[in-house]
Amino acid sequence: MIPKQRDLVSRRLPFEEQAVPSVDPVRYFGVYDDVVRFADMGYKRHVQATPLIRDKCRELILDNEKLKKLMEVCLDNVHRGLKKDTHAQAVVKCFPTYVQALPDGTEVGKFLALDLGGTNFRVLLIELSGEHFEMKSKIFAIPQHIMLGSGEQLFDHIAECLAIFVKEEHVADQKLPLGFTFSFPLEQRGLTKGILVSWTKGFKCSNVVGNDVVQMLDEAIERRGDVQIEVCAILNDTTGTLMSCAWKNHQTRIGLIVGTGSNACYVEKQENAELWQDVDMGSGKVLINLEWGAFGDDGGLDFVRTEYDEDVDKNSINPGKQKTRQTGTGEVYQRGPALRRQRFRHAVRERGRFYTKYVSEIESDPPGVFNNLREICEELGLKHATEQDYINIRFICECISRRSAHLVSAGLAALISTRSGRRRFHPHFHNLMMEKIKELVHPSIEFDLMLSEDGSGRGAALVAAVAARLQKTART
Ligand code: GLC
Repeated sequence: MIPKQRDLVSRRLPFEEQAVPSVDPVRYFGVYDDVVRFADMGYKRHVQATPLIRDKCRELILDNEKLKKLMEVCLDNVHRGLKKDTHAQAVVKCFPTYVQALPDGTEVGKFLALDLGGTNFRVLLIELSGEHFEMKSKIFAIPQHIMLGSGEQLFDHIAECLAIFVKEEHVADQKLPLGFTFSFPLEQRGLTKGILVSWTKGFKCSNVVGNDVVQMLDEAIERRGDVQIEVCAILNDTTGTLMSCAWKNHQTRIGLIVGTGSNACYVEKQENAELWQDVDMGSGKVLINLEWGAFGDDGGLDFVRTEYDEDVDKNSINPGKQKTRQTGTGEVYQRGPALRRQRFRHAVRERGRFYTKYVSEIESDPPGVFNNLREICEELGLKHATEQDYINIRFICECISRRSAHLVSAGLAALISTRSGRRRFHPHFHNLMMEKIKELVHPSIEFDLMLSEDGSGRGAALVAAVAARLQKTART
């Protein structure tokens, strides 16, 4: 009989034991899934990753002791980022955003939003009305030469896409407010003023660092002269996500992104955010953009870093920077424990050939089934991969995903703990995090994780709408 999922969870073995089993290979197979069901299906072949691979993956396992240490280091970093005296040296910058309140469901109006944070960017038209919203959006690519070109080229390209979109949507003649989600480290000086601190995620456009990106966008729109747009808020994608989830569930207090980059934002008291200088519009709170992707850039994470992380860092476009991002997200898959066989060397070890999306696809197959993996191997030109090869590859992916989920869980658990006074495409990330955070925070703390769909785009409209609401209330 196949046991119920709930029973399986409690019978599941600690990961350390699963990863390096000493007995009964069948029971231990499947880092995530119900090993018992697999055994019950009578699958009796050799289903373990080979000893060399298991050995190489050992250092990717983070026990709770390490994760708790990580929570402490994370909190210490957050405090240093928030305090005036230590902010300049702090690696986790904890930038106050100029967002002081979460949505309360009364926000209304038509807004444009721009969502720039990776190789694609989106332009959106959003209409909010009470509990409902309507959204139209279009994705545009940012070609590599623009990612590495000049700032002016980048903003001209964005303004061009924006113009195309508003014309297609027949709103070019309306002066709509626009929220700009710009998912890079920004030092905000106001709701419409954000200075780029450094580029991340493969961008390196000249003459943008140190400048106000809202002004650069305004100037590009003006250079075109064919559309009228008022940029009325700039925000980070974590802020957008928090706003978007808070709109659906008013209890939400933390926004988290795990994607090309990783970062979080949370609601802090204005008195604790020592860099915050604006007028309190009544909430006494302010959203803090942690920029935790830089966590570890001062060596504070070295106790969890591995040779693979060093390799990713060394070959990244900004070596020594964004160490948490590299450790917690996709890139390390590409340099994970190598498969030794000669023909894999070329196909899998060649930098950039093994995409992050492959991992989600591989782990979406049930345990012991390798349909997606077989296709991926074919795509990589590995026509003769054996079942043992599939088992090894999946095992490596699972170890890296699990580590990533656990790292992010430790960061979230640290934030959740102070309050006591995913991945969308990855099939198991959410469950791994729920399980791990439960282990790491005090049992009296209740929490939930909700998936944000279209968070950063809709969040931009919400930031603009909430600001409008607060201004209106302040005037009356
Ligand atoms: C990078 C950016 C940060 C963003 C995160 C997620 O870490 O610096 O601003 O929130 O990626 O997209």
